[in-house]
Amino acid sequence: MKDNKLSRRTFVKASSASLAALSLPMILSGHNNDASAAVPAPGPAPLPASQNQSSSVSNAWEAGSSDSFTRYFFDTLMVETRYMDADLPSTKLDLFGHTFDTPIMTAALSHQNNRNVKGMVVYAQAAANCNAVHWMGMGEDQELEEIVATGAKTVKVIKPHENNEEVFRKIRHAESTGCFAVGMDIDHPFNGRGGYDVVYGLRMKPKSTEEMKSFVKATRLPFIVKGVLSVHDAKRCMEAGVAGIVLSHHGGRVKYSIPPLMALEQIADVVKGKMKIFIDCGIVSGMDAYKCLALGADAVSVGRHLMPLISQGVDQVANRMKAMTAELAGVMSATGVKSLKEFDPTVIHRTIL
Ligand SMILES: Cc1cc2nc3c(=O)[nH]c(=O)nc-3n(C[C@H](O)[C@H](O)[C@H](O)COP(=O)(O)O)c2cc1C
Repeated sequence: MKDNKLSRRTFVKASSASLAALSLPMILSGHNNDASAAVPAPGPAPLPASQNQSSSVSNAWEAGSSDSFTRYFFDTLMVETRYMDADLPSTKLDLFGHTFDTPIMTAALSHQNNRNVKGMVVYAQAAANCNAVHWMGMGEDQELEEIVATGAKTVKVIKPHENNEEVFRKIRHAESTGCFAVGMDIDHPFNGRGGYDVVYGLRMKPKSTEEMKSFVKATRLPFIVKGVLSVHDAKRCMEAGVAGIVLSHHGGRVKYSIPPLMALEQIADVVKGKMKIFIDCGIVSGMDAYKCLALGADAVSVGRHLMPLISQGVDQVANRMKAMTAELAGVMSATGVKSLKEFDPTVIHRTIL
């Protein structure tokens, strides 16, 4: 049973100031302990122009890079081993009435057609082949239809359009296309220069709790909010009746964002299982996934780590997702966790490196 508390023996709640003071060289070097040497970690990639208009998207080498802080936070967490009474685990995920083979999901990407003629479809097909949840970000209606046609159980993430009619239209389209769930990335309303963002000519706007309630009511699909990093937003999502939240800084749209994994424990304490908790940003190994699941996440998403493989085809993406699932199972077996319902946060120890 998860109690969502890090082991008090070694856990120290680090402020961003202490992170910076204690290990600035490591943070700035973009240190990465990915055990999967076979696939080079891609490192944080700049988001496409449409995502990048705000110029608030960070790069790993910039001061205040949220990606670097996120990597550093992952690497401060150690796991103790528990072999007595351990066995091989199941990585099956039960979610919204469907059983998946893995809690490792794709992330809500977009604009992958420059890597491969149908990059977004390749990405979806890989998720379908792994029986994993698939996420899609912005994109044309027809692209979503092609993605869903792969058989991938797809969560469509809609932008926070100022015009709610466009949001409702996209919700209806996601439903009629056969999406698994639908949601909104609430962290894309501003351009980082004191104005609202404009994406492909359409203005974005932050959403109120009342507006969110109306989106939830408008669909029979589970509605998910992506871009939550605070108890403040998590509570409002619960009030609005959303089915799940994605803890995410969207690859660093705002500098000095709290690493999603760092926010997880506090948010999980408030959510208490009433909404599903997903997490993304910087997950590059089964070990990273393990740490998220141990601290209260239901499943994790992987974006930029898989992105370079999209141009190599479905099997390359699927193989990496399967390898990450195998890495996760390896850590689960060595820590006495036999199923996704049995994670114990006291396995995790916080160490200041
Ligand atoms: C090329 C690219 C396009 C993206 N497009 C979207 C999008 O349309 N909607 C969205 O919610 N997130 C979008 N994201 C953000 C990802 O869903 C994810 O939050 C972010 O990449 C962090 O996860 P990662 O470190 O595993 O890549 C995009 C990211 C990238 C790299």
